[in-house]
Amino acid sequence: MDADFSNDNRLVESNSRIVKKLTLKRAVFECFNKGSGWKLTALVVDIKFLLWKIQHPGASFSDYYAGSIAGGLKQGRSHKTLGNKKFLSGSLASDPDQFSQAENQIRGTNYFEMAKKYGLQPDHICIDYGCGSLRVGQHLINYLQPGKYLGLDIVSDFYEAGKTLLADRVLETKTPQFQIINPIVIEAASIQYPHFIFSFAVLKHVPPTELNTYFRNIIGMMAPYSQAIITFNQAERSTRTGAKIWDYCQDEIITSVCEQGLDLYCTINPVYTESEGESLPRISVLLIRKKEYSTSSIYIAEI
Ligand SMILES: C[S@@+](CC[C@H](N)C(=O)[O-])C[C@H]1O[C@@H](n2cnc3c(N)ncnc32)[C@H](O)[C@@H]1O
Repeated sequence: MDADFSNDNRLVESNSRIVKKLTLKRAVFECFNKGSGWKLTALVVDIKFLLWKIQHPGASFSDYYAGSIAGGLKQGRSHKTLGNKKFLSGSLASDPDQFSQAENQIRGTNYFEMAKKYGLQPDHICIDYGCGSLRVGQHLINYLQPGKYLGLDIVSDFYEAGKTLLADRVLETKTPQFQIINPIVIEAASIQYPHFIFSFAVLKHVPPTELNTYFRNIIGMMAPYSQAIITFNQAERSTRTGAKIWDYCQDEIITSVCEQGLDLYCTINPVYTESEGESLPRISVLLIRKKEYSTSSIYIAEI
């Protein structure tokens, strides 16, 4: 009995040490990602990007963003939303732990519920733009009929990692498609006439200089009846709030969307308010439709 108790105590102590270490790592990460240290990180990121551009002329910040994270994943590092490893797990001496299928399945459910509230049905054709490691894509793939899901991203590394966490035989039975974003792929996606184009947690990583390209690609894939559902960090004024994070004001978003065509109709709705006193909701949903369909019978749920 005594031995059992001391084993239990050791387990509790070791668990609480792990929790403390994770909390500390997260605090340090948040400080340099979005907290008081982010400007220093941004300076380092910008210098690295400029140096990287010398070897990759014509490449964008988004290419750099994706390439640098993919490089980190290849070296065994973890990321908050990308790859198949648990964020900040592991130590200097050990690799981060891999997600189990069950652990992965509880991620991204909030975005999936949002997709259904906007009217997603199993027979719809759906594009997941900036699908990453299928945090949300896994739920879309399960829900949709075979062949209706197309995941697009800047590099294949993220969705390849996500595929390893899908339930057995899902790839065979649901036949989801995946592609690296380029003009030919955008053109090909447009003739699939998607009902929905989702872009979750992507726009916040797109810098102002690449906003038009981002919307041009999404709008370029839209059929007359498509709905594009895009989440972003909304602020009173557009501003960089992290090394690789930008908040946007409504006007800048609407202006960039309108530059892609005047036949478009947009609405912006809050997802949630971080604190009661905040004047603007931080995460918002931008919905884009073609004007000719905006007065049709498509049901748009209020989120
Ligand atoms: C934070 S992850 C989100 C992934 C996924 N949507 C999710 O919710 O888990 C951001 C993703 O957007 C992709 N991305 C970044 N900039 C992009 C751009 N300009 N166009 C398309 N995808 C982009 C990245 O490669 C990455 O996979």
